[in-house]
Amino acid sequence: MAPRRTTLVLALTGALLALGTVPVEARPDPGDDPRSRFTGPRFQPPTITPYATERPIRTPGWDSSVAVEARVQQILERMTNEEKADLATGQINNNFGFYNNPIERLGIPAQTMADGPVGVRVANPAVDRATTQLPSGTALAATFDEELALGYGRLLGEETFATGHNVQLGPTLDITRTPLWGRAFEGFGEDPLVSGTMGSAVTDGIQEHPVIATLKHPFAYNQETDRFEVDARVDERTLREIYVRPFEQAQEEARPGAMMCSFNRINGTKACESPLMNTIVKEQLGFRGFIMSDYNATPSTVGAANAGLDQEQPGDQGPGSANFGERLLAAVAAGTVSQERLDDMARRILRPMVGLGLFDELPTPGTFDRDRNSDFARRVAARSMVLLKNDDRVLPLRRSARRIAVIGPDADNISAQGGGSSQVSITTAAISPLDGIRARAGAGARVTYSPGTDGISEGDLLPGPHPVPSSVLTPAEGEGDGLWAEYWSNTTFAGDAHLRQVDPNVNVNFGFQNFPGFNAASPKIPTSRGDFALTGDLSARWSGTLTAPADGRYTLGLTARGDATLWVDGEVFVQHTGALSSQSRQIYLEEGEQVDVRVEYAAPAESSYQGGQVRLFWRHPESVLAPAMRAAVDTARAADVAVVVVRNYETEGVDRPDLALPKEQEQLIRQVAAANPRTVVFVETGAPSRVAPWIDRVAGAFQAWYPGQEQGAAIADVLFGDVNPSGHLPVTIPRNERQVPEITPGVARFSEGVFVGYRGFLADRVQPSYPFGFGLSYTEFEYDRLVTDSGRSDGSNASVRVRVTNVGDRRGTDIVQAYAGTLPTDEVETPPRQLAGFERVTLRPGRSRVVTIDLDQRSLSYFDEQLDGWVTPRGQVPIHVGESSADTSLSGTIRVR
Ligand code: BGC
Repeated sequence: MAPRRTTLVLALTGALLALGTVPVEARPDPGDDPRSRFTGPRFQPPTITPYATERPIRTPGWDSSVAVEARVQQILERMTNEEKADLATGQINNNFGFYNNPIERLGIPAQTMADGPVGVRVANPAVDRATTQLPSGTALAATFDEELALGYGRLLGEETFATGHNVQLGPTLDITRTPLWGRAFEGFGEDPLVSGTMGSAVTDGIQEHPVIATLKHPFAYNQETDRFEVDARVDERTLREIYVRPFEQAQEEARPGAMMCSFNRINGTKACESPLMNTIVKEQLGFRGFIMSDYNATPSTVGAANAGLDQEQPGDQGPGSANFGERLLAAVAAGTVSQERLDDMARRILRPMVGLGLFDELPTPGTFDRDRNSDFARRVAARSMVLLKNDDRVLPLRRSARRIAVIGPDADNISAQGGGSSQVSITTAAISPLDGIRARAGAGARVTYSPGTDGISEGDLLPGPHPVPSSVLTPAEGEGDGLWAEYWSNTTFAGDAHLRQVDPNVNVNFGFQNFPGFNAASPKIPTSRGDFALTGDLSARWSGTLTAPADGRYTLGLTARGDATLWVDGEVFVQHTGALSSQSRQIYLEEGEQVDVRVEYAAPAESSYQGGQVRLFWRHPESVLAPAMRAAVDTARAADVAVVVVRNYETEGVDRPDLALPKEQEQLIRQVAAANPRTVVFVETGAPSRVAPWIDRVAGAFQAWYPGQEQGAAIADVLFGDVNPSGHLPVTIPRNERQVPEITPGVARFSEGVFVGYRGFLADRVQPSYPFGFGLSYTEFEYDRLVTDSGRSDGSNASVRVRVTNVGDRRGTDIVQAYAGTLPTDEVETPPRQLAGFERVTLRPGRSRVVTIDLDQRSLSYFDEQLDGWVTPRGQVPIHVGESSADTSLSGTIRVR
């Protein structure tokens, strides 16, 4: 059932009535970000939008509706050019959300944007900002569950609206070209069909509410390094087959109201003035909504407007700062932007506003059912867990496992989520892995906790060896483990320190990722959590002692950008200057020996997005265990089972330096596994980390993604077998970073072409740790009786049928995957496998079902650059059906005539 939409403002054929317009009042900004200012709609009594739980009949048809078009035309005819330009230009930077003023004279409501896409990030400081922190996009993709994705979108739409917004800045359809990309967690992995399918369903769910969904970020935005300038050099075929295809599918299936062009260049031109907006997005895909710019990504007035940009965001940030606004009006007056183009911008913005009901119901902050939505987040998280390994059926936990050791730096909190504009840190609930396991294990169990190493933070994105852990450090002042830290927001240690405290480590990486509300660091890391004053110029001093945990030769050093000095016992030990790099020296220490350490650091901000970067690191033999790690190993040894929850740090603004787990967590896993043969690992990373350094040592492992606010409950669900795991990998787990495309500043050559992710692993015969599509269950499935149906002669409507049998002893769900093999053409090289369709099937033990999978015609086709169109080559196409991209158990062919 679609939500009720009350027509407040406009009757279909009637004259425009200026009823129900939004009164505006200026309000001071009590928010964290000193640079933001917010003028919001007057907050009205709560309006509760019903949360649709049944699948509606999806025919919104807003973008081709005659009635919608007529309403839009009526409004347009009454608009002045000033008003049209106003609509095309954002007014307020609402603390990294956007806001467009209403045009009261015409009853045009305000557009209030809230970031997503993994929950609603509420920037407006004047409302209750708690929302549901959902599992990451990669987690949702791992469910391969369209219905769940629809619910995910519904929840996003509902909470967007119920927090006072009518535009949701999500979903993210950017492909995981490499798991090193800092924002990979937001999207749906490496396959365009999975991304398009999930993106469509999420968009549908959002737009069941009077809320516009915004697909982001077309196109080829796949790295944070140099993201404002980098030129993505990508050939036309690759662009269409990999990077445009999810947007194409979502446009076709779900009709999004908006898209957000990216920061990067595409083949030399900034995305927000790229001709691809007109040619591909509008003309070829038939998109009839509006393209808004990413935050300050509009590079020009005339160029951007004529290339197809419809709305600049955030727009008027002060006199003369916007490229649209006054400048757009002047360009129209001068004839360099046509009147038709300006009209088209306004029409495109009004069309989804009218068609999706934004005129009919105004988003007044109200309430939503927190418990229901939190339960939904738990359901997604539980279904997204990918069981990688289950030796000797260590899982699900047996009743006899009463002593459970929970290990991991952030296993007692829910901070494992992506940072940046998608971050939801004010959550409606928080169930940590420790809480979840304790609650489920019950009173008769003994659940112990030991972190093993320090909490994870943005500092962990620095390259090089791991920070010296707090458990070998004693501060010169203050209590606890770590070093005494003093911070100044200048480069000269001048004046009173801005901040003084005990820091667990010297491990700072300030900048964009440290903007208020953008830092997904562990709550155990006090300094880095969004102190705006420290994101620019910085000087800092750390002092205390280091106690050697064992006899041995240690390497001590600094990774830094700028000037950094390490003193050991009063002598200069390492000095660093210049660009980001590492310097170190060795020192022999006896067990228990203490040395004084002091680090001084000073560097001007590199840009408003990149501040201080410094780490005090160490290297030591594997046998050296810091006291915190030793304690974790002892805790594990004393238990029947050890559950290790590890995490990494991924964020908008910075790419990952490598695929290792930060803060010696790989050593932690190995050491715990050596002490307890029943060690099970949950990997809380948004995109894969390497598992090769430890996977052979442990009995069980899950890829758990960023599982959201109910992560502990979901972990308990699969750990104890209340939910039989059914997640499958929407992205390959590589063995190491050499197996994935390198990230480079300046120019990003997409030289792998269409061979992204599993397409490349299979073509190059490179073995990853786990292939795309992989996922175990507590039961087992067998496939037989593959029947292919070639459909129509052009390859459309092709399908496969296969019988799936649950041959294990538990109810379970499988994701049956159908891949098209190499296409019958000599014109281009095509991937050995391309996912062409998938289906979820749930079976009781011993039961079988015949599953039909429709094959997506795009997977049987390639994009021909000369013809500027898709070609489905004639001939036999091999079809492989299995439980992953590497599973070759069943094969058949279809024939395209
Ligand atoms: C991100 C967008 C986001 C915007 C507004 C930008 O930095 O790239 O995805 O919607 O900020 O917060």
